[in-house]
Amino acid sequence: MKNLDFKHGGNIYEFAEKFKLSISDIIDASASIVPFSIPDFIKDELCIEIKNESFRYYPERNLNKLKETIGRFHNIDPSCIMPGNGASEIITWVGCEAAKYSLNCLPAPGFVDYERALKCWQAKYFLEELPKNNFKTIKQPFPIQPKSDVLWITNPHNPTGQLWDRKTLEELIKNYKLVICDEAFLSLTPNGENESLIPLTKKFDNLIVIRSLTKLFSIPGLRLGYMVGPSKISHKLNNLRDPWPVNSLAIQAGIKLLNNKDEYKKWIMKIHKWVNIEKQWLTDELKKISKIKVHESSTNFFLIESQHSLIEGINYLSRKKILIRECSSFRFLDDKWARISLQTHEKNQLIALELYNFFL
Ligand SMILES: Cc1ncc(COP(=O)(O)O)c(C=O)c1O
Repeated sequence: MKNLDFKHGGNIYEFAEKFKLSISDIIDASASIVPFSIPDFIKDELCIEIKNESFRYYPERNLNKLKETIGRFHNIDPSCIMPGNGASEIITWVGCEAAKYSLNCLPAPGFVDYERALKCWQAKYFLEELPKNNFKTIKQPFPIQPKSDVLWITNPHNPTGQLWDRKTLEELIKNYKLVICDEAFLSLTPNGENESLIPLTKKFDNLIVIRSLTKLFSIPGLRLGYMVGPSKISHKLNNLRDPWPVNSLAIQAGIKLLNNKDEYKKWIMKIHKWVNIEKQWLTDELKKISKIKVHESSTNFFLIESQHSLIEGINYLSRKKILIRECSSFRFLDDKWARISLQTHEKNQLIALELYNFFL
């Protein structure tokens, strides 16, 4: 098998194609997605949608039902919600709003899409390096002080898994013209929801929160995310974007997933239990390998660091059909870092075993 040079996580189709593998043979720990199938009642719902050929019609243009469902779920007025084709599409449009201001601050290393979105709109930004000495499993103060008009926050942070304390974020909001908080992984994070800024969107008209359902419900191929923020911003952005940004199946899945609070709670309990147990297990196992440092994280992914390049190790794992995220495409990280996303216990055992074998 040849070496790989993928710079982003979740390239499972390209990997399968390149090495003539079936998707189910691959352990993809490079993208941080829950490793369980969506609840059966959602699968049934999607089958009904397909049988009824709902895709023969354009989806509801204004996404009213979905907005109402999300609004009810968060106790927010539906006019403040803008659903999108995954959080990624929302990030593009929020970038358009952020470009109105003279300078954006992106904490780094961070999720690469914010830079992409800002470049789309020729926005000015700078990267502020996050300290690398405070990786924790519990919440911690946000370490950046105001130096720009716009601040982009990821909570918990990707790729470090740091969970930022809401109180410290709230204090910052009044010092910026716009604060954007991407909570794509917050619902997966045990005790994460306590740190959500969504309730504060009622108090501040310069705050936008971004959410994704793709990681939590393992539906990255279906694509569904949303923004919660000032209704005048969602109204304006909505008029600029393509018509029908969310497809009929994703709309229906979103409505069903968020309408049933009992099922949602059951799912969240299952996910938090999995994160707590598997994070402890896998990080404890990997800490036995003296040649790598395993960093603490609050959520379903964590960083490992070595004194030497991890590329050979990453390629070794890929020959064993295991993908982890090489980190040199993250600013302020390099090929001595890698990000590993939690899998089912059986697959975590294989990841630990192959890493031992490589470092023996
Ligand atoms: C921090 C963060 N936000 C947003 C996204 C994109 O999410 P979605 O699949 O909903 O577009 C990702 C994807 O990896 C991410 O890491």
